[in-house]
Formats: sequence, C-alpha cells, structure tokens
Amino acid sequence: MIDHLLKTSPIANLMDKIAGLDQPGGDPRLKQIVERIMGDLFNTIEDFDVTPAEFWTAVSYLTDVGKSDEGGLLAAGLGFEHFLDLRIDEQERVAGLEGGTPRTIEGPLWIADAPIEKGEVRLDQDPEVGEVLFMHGQVRDTDGNPVPHAIVDVWHANTKGGYSFFDKSQTPFNLRRQIETDAEGRYRFRSILPCGYGVPPGGPTHTLLSAIGRHGNRPAHIHFFVSAPGYRKLTTQINIAGDEYLHDDFAFATRDELIPGVTRNQDPEAMRQAGLNSPFTEITFDFAIHRETASVPDTVVVRDHAKAA
Ligand code: BEZ
Ligand code: FE
Repeated sequence: MIDHLLKTSPIANLMDKIAGLDQPGGDPRLKQIVERIMGDLFNTIEDFDVTPAEFWTAVSYLTDVGKSDEGGLLAAGLGFEHFLDLRIDEQERVAGLEGGTPRTIEGPLWIADAPIEKGEVRLDQDPEVGEVLFMHGQVRDTDGNPVPHAIVDVWHANTKGGYSFFDKSQTPFNLRRQIETDAEGRYRFRSILPCGYGVPPGGPTHTLLSAIGRHGNRPAHIHFFVSAPGYRKLTTQINIAGDEYLHDDFAFATRDELIPGVTRNQDPEAMRQAGLNSPFTEITFDFAIHRETASVPDTVVVRDHAKAA
C-alpha cells in the first residue's frame, strides 16, 4: 500500500477537479457531496488495499443492480431507507411533534392509483387459498379526534410473498386498495394473511447479502400510506406477530408499536356470521396522524414508482 497517497497535494487537486470544485458552473452542494463520497471511496480503496479486479467487480455489480432494477431492494437491505426514517423521527422530535403512529419504510413495491373504495373493502381479488384476514380500525389525529374521509392506501404480498404488478401471476391491483374512511374515520377490509417477502434468489441484492452472511427475508407485513388534507402523510406497516423474521427483517423496518395483536377466530358461530367455513384472523389497528406543520420537512417522499398501465 502507498501510505498517505490521499494526503498528497496532487490527489487533493484531483479531488477538486473530480467534484467540479475548480469550475464556476454546477450545483455547489452537489459538488461538496460528490467530493465527500469520492474521498470516502478513495480512502476505502486505500485502507483495504482494494485491487483493480475487486474494483471492477464492484462496477459490474452496480451495473447488475441497475439492470435487475434492484436499487430499491439494495437501499432497503443496506439500511438507507430505515436511516432516512430515523432522521425524520429525530427532526420531528426536535420540533416537538409527539405521539402518532411510528413511520416505517415504504419499500420499493407500491403502485400508484389502486382502486379507491369505501365500506368493507375486499383486497384479495385473485382466487388464492389463504387464511381470511379481517382488519379494521380508526384514523385519528394525535389528540384522538377521528379523521373522516382519510385515505388508507394498503398493499401487501400474497401467500407466496409476491406483490401484484411485480409478480405477473397476479392480476393488477390484487391485494392493493385505497380505502376512504367513513365519517368516524373508520376503515375495514377483508383480505388474506400475507407471507413474508424474500429478495429474488440469485439477484444482486441476494448475492451481496449472502456474501456478508445475511439473508434477504422480511417478516409478513402489511403496508399503509395514511393521508388526509391538512395532515402529515404517514408511511408505515404492521407486522404479523409470530413470524420467524419478526425481529430479523433484512430491511430493518420492524417497530414494536407496529406489531398488533392477532386474533385467530375458530368459533363456528363467528365463522358462520363472517360467511366463512374455516377459521379466520382479525387485527384491530388504529392510526394516529399529525396535523401538517411548517416546522418539519414534508413526509411526502418523492421517488420513482412503477405505474400499472
Ligand atoms: C417490502 O416491503 O416487501 C420490501 C421492502 C424493502 C425491500 C424489498 C421489499
Ligand atoms: Fe412489503
């Protein structure tokens, strides 16, 4: 290893040139960020004596991540998405925003424009055999007042851990709906219990996680965006208690307040009343959302999303 190469003035000049700092044009903040990232990467190469072959393996790897459209998976698996959540949590704490349902990551599998429905909404539209799930609750503000006509945008995986649109064996919008709450802020839906998601075997995310001794599994979960005019958008999930990955999520999204009680109902009369002849699961979960406030950054995250045609 050549010691202190990075501290020599030719390299310092090179860093400035790489980041465009010696040029008048361009975005000054971006220049500083590029300089920091490049400095950190050059230091990593130096400190670990990274060989040219290792470097080009990394370049091929990033090319594969792009080609496989796994940027969102890798970002979650490397903890970036959770870290961004922790930063907003901290900004809210400093601004004095208390209470409210905790946020957790969106993940890369939401699709815009799921059908908007009211009343008892049915999410499962494909003929898949799974345990029936009824989930219901209320959307309230952090003072406990109901939020009528809020939108609870819900999406989850099927019993194989696959998401419609990305899993072409499912019909578009299977297990995805936007539910409008009633005059008391209540929502209710019927679906099937999801299974946990796993990153595609053999894909670049799986390859990196395996190489560092990790798995790419998530516990069974259900995603939500909860929004209403005048309120901060909430991005969150609930986890299904009892899952083997409940506290070992590769995307670091589990939060204790997001593990509601799960009731398995085997009572024949309850089954009859629900129009079923097999046991079913019930979950009650209320959401508390914050009123919009100018003192903290917006919670609407702008990112690329797939769009069902
Ligand atoms: C998911 O929510 O299913 C998910 C989150 C992060 C990465 C991949 C999948
Ligand atoms: Fe998910």
